[in-house]
Amino acid sequence: MREAIAEINKGLEDDIRAVGTVQDLDELKVKYLRKKGPVQGLVRALRDISPEERPNAGKLINDFKGSVEDRLCQLQESFEGEESSRRLEEETLDITLPGRRRFLSRKHLVTQMLDEVLDILSGMGFTVQYGPDIETDYYNFEALNFAKDHPARDMQDTFYIDKDTLLRTHTSNTQVRVMESNTPPIRVAIPGKCFRNETITARSHVFFHQVEGLYIDEGVTFADLLSMLEEFFQKLFHDQDTKVRVRPSYFPFVEPGMEVDVSCMICSGKGCPICKHTGWLEVAGAGMVHPEVMKSGGIDSEKYTGYAWGLGLERLLMIKHGIKDIRLFFENDLRFLEQFA
Ligand code: DAH
Repeated sequence: MREAIAEINKGLEDDIRAVGTVQDLDELKVKYLRKKGPVQGLVRALRDISPEERPNAGKLINDFKGSVEDRLCQLQESFEGEESSRRLEEETLDITLPGRRRFLSRKHLVTQMLDEVLDILSGMGFTVQYGPDIETDYYNFEALNFAKDHPARDMQDTFYIDKDTLLRTHTSNTQVRVMESNTPPIRVAIPGKCFRNETITARSHVFFHQVEGLYIDEGVTFADLLSMLEEFFQKLFHDQDTKVRVRPSYFPFVEPGMEVDVSCMICSGKGCPICKHTGWLEVAGAGMVHPEVMKSGGIDSEKYTGYAWGLGLERLLMIKHGIKDIRLFFENDLRFLEQFA
C-alpha cells in the first residue's frame, strides 16, 4: 500500500510541476479526485487486504487523500494570489505619467488677420458685405472701367470659366454690386478670396485674400481717405507712429489712383532688409472712386464722391511676421501654422 501511495504521489508531484494555468489545475483536480481516479482506486484495493491490516491501510489512504486535497488547494490559492497581484499591477494608475496633450484647433493665421482687420473697420463704421468668388466679366472688369484690351483681362492673368465667367481677380468685383443695391452713404468692407493665373513662387500665388473698403457719401474727399488709412494702419500695427504715404498709380476704377505705403514697423522707418532699406512697405491700392464706376453702380457722381482701397491679407502677414514665402500659408504644415497661436 505504501508503495502504491508513493507511486501516485510521485505522479502527482510531476503533474503539479507541469501546471501552468488555472485550467491545468482544474484538470488535475478531476484527474486525482474523481471516482475512478487513482486515490479512489486505493480505496477499492482495500477489499483485497487482510482484515487485520485493513484499518491501518485505510488510515494511510485517508491521510493520503487529505494530503492530495490540501496540496491541490494550496496550489489553487497560490494561483489566485498571483492572479490578483498581476491584476493589481496591470490596473495601477501611474499619476506621475505626463498627460496626453489634446490637439486644440485654432484659427488659421489668415483668418486671424481677417478678424483683426474687420474688427478695426467695424469700429470705424464699416459694415461687412460679401461678393461671389465666381464672377462675371462684367462685375470683375467691365463695370470697373477696365478697357476691353486691359492686360488684366488676359487669359494669362485671369482664370476664365467661359467667355463671360471667371474667378474674381480682386474683391473690387463687389463694389458695383454694393452700389446697385444700396444708396449712399455706403460704408462697407468686403473680404474674400481672389484668384490669379500666375506662376506660384515665394512671392506670388494663384490664390490669396483681400479686403476691399468702399465709402461713398456727399463730400467725401481725398483727405478723408488719407486720414482713414492712417488711422486704420496705426490700429492694425498697434503703433501711433505708423506713417502712411501714397504714390500715384493706375487702377481703372479710381481717379486718382495710388499705392499706399506704411512706415516699416520692423525698423520704424530707419531701413532694414524687410523694407529693402527704404523705410517703407507697400500695403494697399487705393483711390477716389471713378465717375464711370459710380455710373455703373447707378450713383450720381455729381452729387456723391467716394474712396476705395484694397489690401492683401497674406501681404500684411508677410510684413508683420517677416514671412518670406507666400506658399507657406496654404501648405497646411502644422509646424508653421502652430507658431501663430
Ligand atoms: N483691386 C486692386 C488689386 O487687386 C487693389 C485696389 C486698388 C483696390 C485700388 C481698390 C483701389 O479699391 O482703389 O490690385
